[in-house]
Amino acid sequence: MEETTNEPIKLTQMSRGSGCGCKIAPSVLEEILGKGGEKLNFPGLLVGNEYKDDAAVLELPNGQCLISTTDFFTPIVNNPYDFGRIAAANALSDVYAMGGSPVLALAILGFPVDKLSTDVARQIIAGAKEVCKNANIPLAGGHTIDSLEPIFGLAVNGLVQKENIRKNSTAQEGDLILLTKPIGTGILATAHKRGIISAVDLDAAIQVMVQLNTEGKRLGEISGVHAMTDVTGFGLLGHLIEMCEGSGLSARLENGKVPLIEGIETYTNQFVFPDNTYRNWNSYEKKVDGVKGPEFMTLCDPQTSGGLLIAVHPQSIDEVFYAVKEISLASQITVIGTFIPKEEKTVLVR
Ligand code: CO
Ligand code: CO
Repeated sequence: MEETTNEPIKLTQMSRGSGCGCKIAPSVLEEILGKGGEKLNFPGLLVGNEYKDDAAVLELPNGQCLISTTDFFTPIVNNPYDFGRIAAANALSDVYAMGGSPVLALAILGFPVDKLSTDVARQIIAGAKEVCKNANIPLAGGHTIDSLEPIFGLAVNGLVQKENIRKNSTAQEGDLILLTKPIGTGILATAHKRGIISAVDLDAAIQVMVQLNTEGKRLGEISGVHAMTDVTGFGLLGHLIEMCEGSGLSARLENGKVPLIEGIETYTNQFVFPDNTYRNWNSYEKKVDGVKGPEFMTLCDPQTSGGLLIAVHPQSIDEVFYAVKEISLASQITVIGTFIPKEEKTVLVR
């Protein structure tokens, strides 16, 4: 990890929530947006908010499609440069999760001008610029406000061929469920916020969160990849439930196969986890069967810049593994379950 300052002010102490953990709870979001969301009848709008998908998609006159998304949150780490890198990777992820590739980003910055030096803001933006450079896109502008808590993120536009668009609502019965990054960034961020994380574990969390989900674009080109989303604030279970409900299916999830970031047991053994884990669990526990005791800490852990969650036809598994490994050496792609016909419970954890 590259320490760019010995910052005396701890960014994570300036806000209540952090990272994607400051997302509004699924149950509250439902009150605001309505259950299924409204199907907007707008010419060319291929993906609106009807299935709580990762981004909106608009068909352009040239046959390509525009993907548009925004994501921003309060600091998840104390180092401003890393905060910028993580927020940027997280915002870009929704474009990759639709099967596209980003083309342009704008910054969204809320900043307590009276409490923090402008150097901190400069470092946040420098971190975001580095990630945008890695994604081969410009950070071409943005908007800044004076706010009580630091907030940072991006509005991102991307492009995708129509046939490569992957929604979260099109999984098929018998599809295998794959996950590309290990779980645990919420737990590790909480340990960081409380000042009890080791340098090694913090570095592991940062590496996972700055890793781009670039392979999403390639996955969109594989016909056996039926559906895709990324795991963020609602945790693995929450995003899997969204996929199941959108697709009219249930899922069998093999908890023992879910990859975890090395070292998180140190913290789960001490019951160190974000408050939002409970909030997630309370929002969807009625839809889940078989979660035993402490498993909920990882299954409902709000992820920031989490991995891709993919529905893949069993015959396409080799092609998918090959494609992902070729693009992302860091990927820990793993089969973690199967989509099954709809049952009373949406997710059966084994
Ligand atoms: Co998303
Ligand atoms: Co998002």
